[in-house]
Amino acid sequence: LQPPSSPYPAGTEQTAPHPTLMSPGEKLDPLPDTFILQPPVFHPVIPYVTTIFGGLRAGKMVMLQGAVPLNARRFQVDFQCGCSLHPRPDIAIHFNPRFHTTKPHVICNTLYRGCWQVEARWPHVALQRGASFLLLFLFGNEEMKVSVNGQHFLHYRYRLPLSRVDTLGIFGDISVTAVGFLNINVSSSGAKAWVAPFLLRSPELEVPCSHALPQGLWPGQVIIVRGLVLPEPKDFTLSLRDEAAHVPVMLRASFADRTLAWVSRWGRKKLILAPFLFYPQRFFEVLLLCQEGGLKLALNGQGVGATSLGQQVLEQLRELRISGSVQLYCVHY
Ligand code: GAL
Repeated sequence: LQPPSSPYPAGTEQTAPHPTLMSPGEKLDPLPDTFILQPPVFHPVIPYVTTIFGGLRAGKMVMLQGAVPLNARRFQVDFQCGCSLHPRPDIAIHFNPRFHTTKPHVICNTLYRGCWQVEARWPHVALQRGASFLLLFLFGNEEMKVSVNGQHFLHYRYRLPLSRVDTLGIFGDISVTAVGFLNINVSSSGAKAWVAPFLLRSPELEVPCSHALPQGLWPGQVIIVRGLVLPEPKDFTLSLRDEAAHVPVMLRASFADRTLAWVSRWGRKKLILAPFLFYPQRFFEVLLLCQEGGLKLALNGQGVGATSLGQQVLEQLRELRISGSVQLYCVHY
């Protein structure tokens, strides 16, 4: 994930003060943590509703990468005050491009206690049916600015306090590749280098890939692998090798028969009896927790069992290999 270059002139952005350990005058390159506020979301299924960690405040930015389907009628991006279904939450900012009318336009509005307020209307959509886009919502003290593909598009004055917003909702005819939650409060020196908004591909994550485990695995250690399943996937394997290049344990997802199994050093397969949670073009997360005498497995946050392995075997592991029909965006251990 890379921060975007801002379409707004330097100095016009709101900078929310935040605690810093830097001494006055010290310059620090913007590290990812300073601008990534919560994990990005890739390829969410629409309708999509998610919590904005810590709520919205001036200085935050929400980035949406995606495309407008050819036959799109309308979509909306709502910055909501809560996520209850009944009663319907207030929507501080409703951003609603409409393509199906003779004159496509964009509406912004606020829903307060179930009632829409006076609509603000822009007689031009800036987004094209059938085209991809990068939408940035930048939250200032008094208003939200929206840019489309790097060009300022509109601003909308808050009618409800921004501090009430804690939920993002995306609905309607839109396909979303990525959603990012960023902090605008970064130094301008770093901004020059920021080109691609989302850097999914990094050489270390090209599949097949190998990661060294110099000290083997020990109880309490966690391996997290996150990524995206490719279209028309065949298989996905995660293997743990020892110094002698033996593979005492391998986790193998096979898309042909939609099974997930542990495969032992001798090729013995032990099926994991849990729903198969891998889908083409969908995000996945595999978490392996090393514990006394084995590995516990969780998929997309759900525990789905364990496999036993001697402590010695775990300590002698030296390499994690990942291969198959996936695109990785994080391997963490
Ligand atoms: C209504 C529409 C809502 C919302 C609202 C905004 O006509 O049904 O979905 O877009 O306008 O003012």
